[in-house]
Amino acid sequence: MARSNLKNRIVLFLVATTIVLLALRFTYVFQDALLSFLSTRMAGRAHEDTITAVKLILWAMLGYLMVRALKFLLFKLVFRFRSGSEAPVLVQNVFSIVVFTLLFVIIFNRLYPNVNLGALFTTSAIFGVILGLALQDTLGNFFAGISLHADRPFQVGDVIAVGAQKHTGVVESISWRAIKIRTFQNHVVLVSNSSAAKEAIEVCPRDNLNARLVFFSTLYTDSPAKTIHIAREAVRESDNVSEKITPIVRIRNMGESGIDYEVKYWLNDYARYNDTDALVRQRIWYAFRRAGITFNFPTRTVELRRPASHVVSEADHNALIERLSAVDIFAPLSTEETATLAQASVRHVFAPSETVIRAGDAGSSMFVLHNGRVQVQVSDNGNLRPVAVLNEGDFFGEMALLTGEPRTAHVVAVEETEVLEIGHEAMKKLFDTNPDLVESLSHIITERRKALADRAIDPREEDESAGLLASIKRFFRIS
Ligand code: CMP
Repeated sequence: MARSNLKNRIVLFLVATTIVLLALRFTYVFQDALLSFLSTRMAGRAHEDTITAVKLILWAMLGYLMVRALKFLLFKLVFRFRSGSEAPVLVQNVFSIVVFTLLFVIIFNRLYPNVNLGALFTTSAIFGVILGLALQDTLGNFFAGISLHADRPFQVGDVIAVGAQKHTGVVESISWRAIKIRTFQNHVVLVSNSSAAKEAIEVCPRDNLNARLVFFSTLYTDSPAKTIHIAREAVRESDNVSEKITPIVRIRNMGESGIDYEVKYWLNDYARYNDTDALVRQRIWYAFRRAGITFNFPTRTVELRRPASHVVSEADHNALIERLSAVDIFAPLSTEETATLAQASVRHVFAPSETVIRAGDAGSSMFVLHNGRVQVQVSDNGNLRPVAVLNEGDFFGEMALLTGEPRTAHVVAVEETEVLEIGHEAMKKLFDTNPDLVESLSHIITERRKALADRAIDPREEDESAGLLASIKRFFRIS
């Protein structure tokens, strides 16, 4: 396509040059005949002036063709060959204008040796005004183009949004007159340099990691931590999403019928942002479908509740029984006791990094980890030192519950975590029927206290545990 275009242009150039050369030759060879022919029809020296004017026009046309040829040779061939890229259009145009003006002045001086071209330009006020008015826009564009080239706020290949209509597209060229943008609908928009210079231009450079935002919302029943994790992974794996910066998924708003999220991700090639936005949305849809997350749609949920705040379904209740019976300290409990304990426990969900227990607080309940993970931390010279990580089936918070002392450590959710809270009353009932439970708990508390204090094994452990056991019994009024 480009090659045949070039061939056509070369042929056209050769034809035009031949015609102009023939016309020039004709004018010179038949000059006398033409003069005598015109002299019969024109008064005074008008016939001579006409021939000279025709010569000027023909020479100027030849000059113009030569300048085009020179420009092609210099910029398209030599410049490209040496530097590998084409010279900016503006430079090419300035070159053409300067060379053509020089040629024109030379030709004019040869044909009109008695006319002072400089004086003609400088003394003719009217000419100046006409020229000034005619070139006002052109010169405005020209100088704005020069400043664009000097500042280089954007380059060919960058995506820009410019003008009152916010024309957005990829910059194809910056000439002495206008910026050529190819929009995402494959239209070409020309924004004149002077108007671009007046507008705010949004530039997304090609070699920069530009970000995009995509929005979605889910039902309130889907947990934010899970939603954020699933969406982030789905976006991360989409084509054209940069691996250099991890996408960000965050809550924008708690909407009327769902939680609104925004996804921020960075693109390798910003010019393809429409496709990438679409792909990101598609990936999120599939990932949510697999994870059982539901997109928000305008709904009104009518919830019929029984007065109790934590009614659990039978399946949930069985899951709680299963969880509690897997906790080693509760292993000796009978099936009925475990079921009663499950009935008495309250479920809570914590987001990643949320504090479940704060050191120093009063506490009268303990927790069994149903899902997720927590970290136990103690304050060490103002810094938090991790002491232990507890997993599903582990328990915590027993120290304050059993001794009545303040909480000994911070307990923080590492990921989204669900816990079962067991209160003082429920534990007391268990202790009444299972005295061994108090003893096994007192051993565990002794161990944990040692780890908290960062101590080595103490030979008086037996004494310490026995003392603790007695004080727990006192606190719970167990005989
Ligand atoms: P409590 O003191 O009520 O609150 C903080 C809880 O962190 C504490 O009970 C224990 O359950 C738990 N904890 C403290 N130290 C440790 C440890 N070394 N290992 C595991 N858990 C601990």
